[in-house]
Amino acid sequence: MEKKGLRKEDGLLPRPWLSLLALAFGLVFMDPFHLGPLGGHDYRPVKHNIAPYDQVMQRWPRDCRSRLRFGKLEFVDEVFGPESLEFDPQGRGPYAGLADGRVVRWMGESIRWKTFALVSPNWSEKVCANGVESTTAKQHKHEKLCGRPLGLRFDKTSGKLYIADAYLGLAAVGHHGGVATLLSTHVQGRPVLFANDLDVHRNGSIFFTDTSSRYSRSDHFFILLEGEATGRLLRYDPASGATHVVLRGLAFPNGVQLSKDQTFLLFTETTNCRIMRLWMEGPKAGKLEVFADLPGFPDNIRITEKGQFWAAIDCCRTRAQEVFSRNPWLRSVYFRLPLRLSFLAGMTGMKMFTMISLFDEEGNVVEVLEDRGGEVMKLVSEVRQVQGKLWVGTVAHNSIATLPYP
Ligand SMILES: *[C@@H]1O[C@H](CO)[C@@H](O)[C@H](O)[C@H]1NC(C)=O
Ligand SMILES: *[C@@H]1O[C@H](CO)[C@@H](O)[C@H](O)[C@H]1NC(C)=O
Repeated sequence: MEKKGLRKEDGLLPRPWLSLLALAFGLVFMDPFHLGPLGGHDYRPVKHNIAPYDQVMQRWPRDCRSRLRFGKLEFVDEVFGPESLEFDPQGRGPYAGLADGRVVRWMGESIRWKTFALVSPNWSEKVCANGVESTTAKQHKHEKLCGRPLGLRFDKTSGKLYIADAYLGLAAVGHHGGVATLLSTHVQGRPVLFANDLDVHRNGSIFFTDTSSRYSRSDHFFILLEGEATGRLLRYDPASGATHVVLRGLAFPNGVQLSKDQTFLLFTETTNCRIMRLWMEGPKAGKLEVFADLPGFPDNIRITEKGQFWAAIDCCRTRAQEVFSRNPWLRSVYFRLPLRLSFLAGMTGMKMFTMISLFDEEGNVVEVLEDRGGEVMKLVSEVRQVQGKLWVGTVAHNSIATLPYP
């Protein structure tokens, strides 16, 4: 530090403008009037464990033709935020979990969508059935009561439908539907706060993600902003009814998918923009490794008949986000600026568009499809490849997108 010329009156902030600056900085940092988007929130940003931006982006293939643009939006304003899409063991469906708390089933052109199951025993038409409004923030205050089914999977052996509900936990319903039975609501004495997705092991065990131990779905934005890693991978054992913690300390664990031979399990870590692989059998059993680093924020992941994996990715990472992810203090100041969150996010170069990507069993990219302008598909949550067609779910919009494929 330059000491020369330091006079006595240069002590602690002598000039009024310096004091003002310090005060302004202090106000932004502490945000005592809760003007920033975080309000009075106990915001605890941490460093993420994320692959370097350049390393990921330079290697990532792009879809210059932006082929997702040729997709079609179907069932517009008939389904609300269908995050997960599933077909039953007879191939009927799709079934979809909606923002109003219902699981619905497609019955064909004349009957169309019919309620198949409810997760919450307290579901009521009056409070919960808010149609297109249910994908807006208005529904957040009802979601705890109405439920929010996010992950759906049929058990091919029993014909049961398993449901990961963001508020209620893990549930199951028989093949005739109805009100689901709650199977796992607590683990080690603490609530499953944010069940997100699941898959069914051939021995009957259900592997499912609990996205955070601090935040429920309505506060999911804080998980991303903080980079907090209190999520878990859980296993429900139907024989004993017990739930076990398989992995903890995960950053927004989201989609879950077992491999075709079930030697490994994949799950996405949304905050860290990657897919992780947990080996279940063989020489590497129990080992956890990075399967693929992604250019954006993944949601669900689903297997194809050939045993490859489709990941739904909300795009994209930016350089600014990289700086933020490595400097928690910077996020701490920035997101206390008294401006709208969408504006602050926009300033970091975040523009939402969609990318879906197919991986082989080694984690190599086989295919990338994009809608670069976000013209047709925005905020995708899941991709199912069924009978020559991709079915694309979304947690935020009131439609399902489809695209002939391959
Ligand atoms: C349903 O309502 C009952 C009675 O108010 C309550 O005890 C129970 O916890 C509620 N269940 C759920 C899943 O919200
Ligand atoms: C089912 O398989 C999983 C994964 O290998 C294992 O953790 C679990 O203990 C098995 N459950 C039973 C009942 O064998």
